[in-house]
Amino acid sequence: MPRLGVNVDHVATVRQARGTTEPDPVTAAALAELAGAGGITVHLREDRRHIQDRDLEVLRRTVQTRLNLEMAATEEMVGIALRVRPDCVTLVPEKRQELTTEGGLDVIGQAAALTATVERLRAAGIFVSLFVDPDLAQIGAAQKTGTDAIEIHTGLYCDAKTPQKQASELVKIEQAVRIGRQLELAVHAGHGLNYHNVRAVVALGGIEEFNIGHSIVSRAVLVGMERAVREMVTLIEGG
Ligand code: PXP
Repeated sequence: MPRLGVNVDHVATVRQARGTTEPDPVTAAALAELAGAGGITVHLREDRRHIQDRDLEVLRRTVQTRLNLEMAATEEMVGIALRVRPDCVTLVPEKRQELTTEGGLDVIGQAAALTATVERLRAAGIFVSLFVDPDLAQIGAAQKTGTDAIEIHTGLYCDAKTPQKQASELVKIEQAVRIGRQLELAVHAGHGLNYHNVRAVVALGGIEEFNIGHSIVSRAVLVGMERAVREMVTLIEGG
């Protein structure tokens, strides 16, 4: 059965908007696990725009399932990963100006550096995944780095504006899953998945882990709104 890794970055985004202590992504992670999440994912960015070092450290002590750290393959982040020891590191490209991760790694162009990073992380007992586009050449290069897994970027499928484009992007994901498994890699998938588009990807089979964040946090805000307002109305009117 595939597992759901819940990405709690955007709980931290709301907290950072005010610079206070709530909502705490650590509490959100615990609730996600109670609801059946098979893992918790966070992206510690160079600019610390959402997840903070403290979040990662507390999550390492509290996550009961699997802690997956998404990070750029920089010296700073590798040092943090080797100290905190998440269960899994997913290496992603990172640009300062981007709103979110915009695509997969250029594994072919950065083969030597990525191979060295994969080796250092794996030597510390950390399971390593490389975030790649559904591109067969990049997946072949990923396997040569010695990585344990690939995470297939589903963003183009999710952003497709027409059913035809969506169908053709889904075919690319299907081929990527097949090649990844033939190369004996664990296959994960993520980015842009939501309550409408996830089932077709699940139906492909062969994907062990889905990492989903924005749509879950967005829905949590809406399904939780009524209760949150009722509780405040009770305090005000009931007082
Ligand atoms: N997987 C990777 C590698 C990501 O960078 C992200 C975004 O942080 C996700 C999954 C989750 O994407 P989304 O928030 O769109 O569900």
